[in-house]
Amino acid sequence: MARKLAAGNWKMNGVAADLAQISALMATHPAPRSTVLICPPATLLQRMADVVAGRFAVGGQDCHAMDKGAHTGDISAVMLADAGAGYVILGHSERRADHGETDAQIARKALAALAAGLVPVICVGETEAQRDSGKTLDVVAQQLAGSVPADATADRLVIAYEPVWAIGTGRTPTLQQITEVHAHLRARLMKQFGPQASDIPIIYGGSVKPDNAAQIFGLSDVDGALVGGASLKASDFGAIIDALDAS
Ligand code: PGA
Repeated sequence: MARKLAAGNWKMNGVAADLAQISALMATHPAPRSTVLICPPATLLQRMADVVAGRFAVGGQDCHAMDKGAHTGDISAVMLADAGAGYVILGHSERRADHGETDAQIARKALAALAAGLVPVICVGETEAQRDSGKTLDVVAQQLAGSVPADATADRLVIAYEPVWAIGTGRTPTLQQITEVHAHLRARLMKQFGPQASDIPIIYGGSVKPDNAAQIFGLSDVDGALVGGASLKASDFGAIIDALDAS
């Protein structure tokens, strides 16, 4: 797994016509140096996998902890893998908030993802109130400790730092704040995994755009981005990939 990762999280956006954005992106970016990952809604997963034909990676946005069974509306990691996914986003703050997902549930989902051959992209991040009260580092460390399963391995894991207050708001932390959190996450991962933790991509998410990407990617321990809004448009996501490739 290349350490540099540009991941697009389409969230609940995208119908078949939007696959054209990815065809356009492939035309302008035939061979990016960084790994490019697109996480469309589950309805588009199989078609997205067909479009990217192995040149970009494809991922789900969540999975259930069980492989199959009576869980109406849910999708298992096995199903994501069967549809062509290689990754799955887990513990995104919108899932933590909208569906009350806990660290323990996220850890169980991550185990299911690993068993199905997927790389989990585990998200952590503080709320604005937590930042204002000086708890950011404790919050992300606690989320990391609770959400990364004990038997995960450093070669199949991605961590995304996404401050909740920066998602979809156009606001971003200062470069110093991003550096501080990423260094803290790297240190915690080193404790859990040893020296191999230096290979785990720690990506930043929250209002990454073409005009701030290069600065963010220039920071130490920032190995890429999890991009929401700007991943929906080929030209914007392409510019972010360029910034990562150049970093
Ligand atoms: P944003 O979303 O880039 O639209 O802020 C990022 C995310 O939630 O992954």
